[in-house]
Amino acid sequence: MNYKIALIRGDGIGPEVVGEAVKVLEAVGQKFGHSFTYEEVLLGGCATDAVGKSYPDGTAEKCRACDAVLLGAVGGPKWGSDKPAEQRPETALLAIRKDLGLYANLRPAALRPAMADACPLKRETAEKGIDLMMVRELTGGIYFGQRERYDTPDRGVECADRMAYSEQEIERIGRRAFELARLRRNKVSSVDKANVLETSRLWRSVMHRLAEEYSDVEYEDVLVDNAAMQLVRDPAQFDVVVTENMFGDILSGEASMITGSIGLIPSASLGETKRGMYEPIHGSAPDIAGQNIANPIGTILAAGMMLKYAFDMDQEAAEIEEAVEAALRLGYRTKDIMEDGKTYRTCSQMGDTIAELITNA
Ligand code: IPM
Ligand code: MG
Repeated sequence: MNYKIALIRGDGIGPEVVGEAVKVLEAVGQKFGHSFTYEEVLLGGCATDAVGKSYPDGTAEKCRACDAVLLGAVGGPKWGSDKPAEQRPETALLAIRKDLGLYANLRPAALRPAMADACPLKRETAEKGIDLMMVRELTGGIYFGQRERYDTPDRGVECADRMAYSEQEIERIGRRAFELARLRRNKVSSVDKANVLETSRLWRSVMHRLAEEYSDVEYEDVLVDNAAMQLVRDPAQFDVVVTENMFGDILSGEASMITGSIGLIPSASLGETKRGMYEPIHGSAPDIAGQNIANPIGTILAAGMMLKYAFDMDQEAAEIEEAVEAALRLGYRTKDIMEDGKTYRTCSQMGDTIAELITNA
């Protein structure tokens, strides 16, 4: 069978890391007899440069014609916040998430044994292990609310960003979290700010309803400020963490750092269909673009999540995981995670190493 993958290479280090993920997919395809074909899709700052807007017409249709979307990263100072919205890469990223209906963003953060020394937490904390799944609502809340900017007579310019959530939006992301917990360690921590925000009070009441329905799953409410603290104090307490869009953006950044490097973390954005979008959680890192020093592991693992969630290839996905684990265990490190006594790998060498480990496993 042939699988068609939309490739959004994007900006900065995006093209470099996507190139390595494709290398790894090819190794998997060879080994298991799958054929992958790729449809290049232009989105982000590179699209602004090429056609004048970051989200060219027909982008969503192109992606819908594929079985899954693999994305590197978009953004960069060249297309900064002083530029009109239609030229900014972030606008395109939000639009594609919304247009493909990808409301559930899964961001696993696990501390691999080989990376234990890279964990910035106290040794006794790290030793308890970190293995959590952040489930971030991705198409609602303040990211998509109405934005306003107006002059006031006496206070200068004033702006507002509206944060709205419906019961339906909360319920569907909540269900994802409970279903995932059943496949993991059976615990859901729901993060909100119900002591202040009305959206959070609704969030909490919907989650409580679901917690009754999924009574076999352990459930707790955690206020977002406390969640930020608990993530560095005792991350082992978390299994599935479910939260709204902006809290999830912030907390997933924090969760990634306690596992060593943001360069190691993949994500899957899912909707009601199997066609998801898969990407590393890091940004386009323009400062290191074009130097072949980026860490491709986040994107390689995202390709692994794609095999698992979009194509039901559990074994193939597991081989990617194991090859990444093996490369780290054997001491191979890209610049961001380099330590004394380890073997330095460029971005492309790391891709080669992981692809070879799959071929030879
Ligand atoms: C992420 C990124 C994006 C987000 C930006 C680039 C719009 O930070 O995927 O975490 O905030 O969702
Ligand atoms: Mg982010």
